[in-house]
Amino acid sequence: MKATGTMTNPHASTWYPVAPSAAVRPGANIVAGFAEGQELALWRSTDGAAQAWENRCPHRSVRFTLGQVIEDRLSCAYHGWQYAAGNGQCVSIPAHPTMQAPRNVCAKVFGAVDAAGMLWVNLAQDTPSVPPSLADAVPAGWHFCRTLTLRAGAQGVRDAFVRHGFAVDAATGAWQGTLDKMKTAALLLDAQPQLTFVHLWTEAPPGSDAMKTLHTAARSLRSDIETQG
Ligand code: FES
Repeated sequence: MKATGTMTNPHASTWYPVAPSAAVRPGANIVAGFAEGQELALWRSTDGAAQAWENRCPHRSVRFTLGQVIEDRLSCAYHGWQYAAGNGQCVSIPAHPTMQAPRNVCAKVFGAVDAAGMLWVNLAQDTPSVPPSLADAVPAGWHFCRTLTLRAGAQGVRDAFVRHGFAVDAATGAWQGTLDKMKTAALLLDAQPQLTFVHLWTEAPPGSDAMKTLHTAARSLRSDIETQG
């Protein structure tokens, strides 16, 4: 999944598939995520725009995932400071309602987009361009199956996919092959040094016997990868 970066901005061209888009609802929940060891708070403003922030309040470092979404603001659980969607600027300090929030208090905001049913994050600090290939990462009409959590490094997972006859598409970083005769697409997320998430998709509809077969095959794949180390 990892693409080549630049000397000054190693993350500029790398987009990480951090969560299924449907798991993050507009103006509602906050979802925890990881990419390359960076802990993330994922949420949406009321217009549905994806937000990916460092999971740390700039006031006293409390995790944003403990807070709540209030319209187009994320409110920290500790002192209730509120930060605006988009630029992460602090806009309200409830203990001092008449005070203008300091301009230099700002959540760390990353690039976030939806494509192919996934929410993708870019860890670059400038505004990264979105490669059109992301939209083709999963074949049109395929259905999300599950996300596997693997206690293994991303390279070990890639090696396992090769052993299982999967091939990677250089443009999208997506893997395609079969698990128990089911056509399967997989997106790998290098979350932490020994933690990899694998999002699995297939053409079988949700609830079908074929989808259940893929769930079983996915568990077997996880066992194989974690055993091989
Ligand atoms: S730690 Fe977040 S508002 Fe104080």
